Amino acid sequence: MKMKAVCRWKEHVALILIFCISFNATSSLTGLQVCSLCGGSVLNGSTVGHFCSLSAGWIHRRCCLRNDSTSDSERIIGLDLSNCSLTHVENLQEASEVLMIDLSLNPIVNISDDVFRGFFYLNYIILPDDIVCPGGNTSWQKVEVKQGNRICEGQKNMCNQTGQFSNNCPENSLCAPYGPGFYECSCAENYHGYKCLREGGFPALQVFGPLAASTLVMSFLLWVTQRRIAKALSHH
Ligand SMILES: *[C@@H]1O[C@H](CO)[C@@H](O)[C@H](O)[C@H]1NC(C)=O
Ligand SMILES: *[C@@H]1O[C@H](CO)[C@@H](O)[C@H](O)[C@H]1NC(C)=O
Ligand SMILES: *[C@@H]1O[C@H](CO)[C@@H](O)[C@H](O)[C@H]1NC(C)=O
Ligand SMILES: *[C@@H]1O[C@H](CO)[C@@H](O)[C@H](O)[C@H]1NC(C)=O
Ligand SMILES: *[C@@H]1O[C@H](CO)[C@@H](O)[C@H](O)[C@H]1NC(C)=O
Repeated sequence: MKMKAVCRWKEHVALILIFCISFNATSSLTGLQVCSLCGGSVLNGSTVGHFCSLSAGWIHRRCCLRNDSTSDSERIIGLDLSNCSLTHVENLQEASEVLMIDLSLNPIVNISDDVFRGFFYLNYIILPDDIVCPGGNTSWQKVEVKQGNRICEGQKNMCNQTGQFSNNCPENSLCAPYGPGFYECSCAENYHGYKCLREGGFPALQVFGPLAASTLVMSFLLWVTQRRIAKALSHH
């Protein structure tokens, strides 16, 4: 089992550092905070539990995990946050490669479409019946309301719709789906710049050079701080 890096750069450096230090000492699974948004675990008889056993996954708290053959790490394929007393759903980024999410039986007020931006694989979501499907009905193949739940099934490809979304990317660029209701335009090979109008080699050094330099400085500062905290901890 490989350690999965989930420590992200956020505003509260010290807090994150302490989190990272304690995280490194434990297993990779405890780092998946999204699986512990509330107590309990995925139940065998539930929709996510059923999906999990069919997908040869295993259950960790509120998640169904499966080994990702390409990256040699665990990937969250199912997330069961049913009956979690959630009023707001904000950061689910740890589960951005999830296929199925259950948010039923929660007093959710509203969910921003942005929560699922980049959720390319999401293909089945269960919501309380008063919450609309992310991206609206037009982003899903099938939307149905039953037993107090709204079920959004089959994410539509926003690049492949006749009507308002077709050809939304400029010339010389490729359209790619990017979660329910979202799409992404990326310049075709050899094109770059505003609206992909410029042709020729991408000026990698000019663009990434300063970024790389500042990353190095930040890493060094982080390393120094971490050493000091580690030292301070080991003295107690
Ligand atoms: C759920 O299913 C797994 C695998 O089939 C089994 O090992 C476990 O005992 C079951 N748990 C419950 C609560 O039924
Ligand atoms: C929801 O959770 C509460 C306790 O947290 C439990 O009493 C109740 O039976 C659960 N409801 C369902 C439908 O699972
Ligand atoms: C949720 O609804 C409230 C009021 O109904 C609104 O002020 C808020 O902006 C909404 N939040 C999102 C993320 O849509
Ligand atoms: C979306 O689909 C549901 C279920 O078919 C339907 O009840 C609802 O009115 C639709 N909403 C819109 C805005 O079309
Ligand atoms: C594009 O749309 C057509 C017609 O709706 C459908 O048959 C095809 O499978 C879609 N392709 C993709 C990649 O979604």
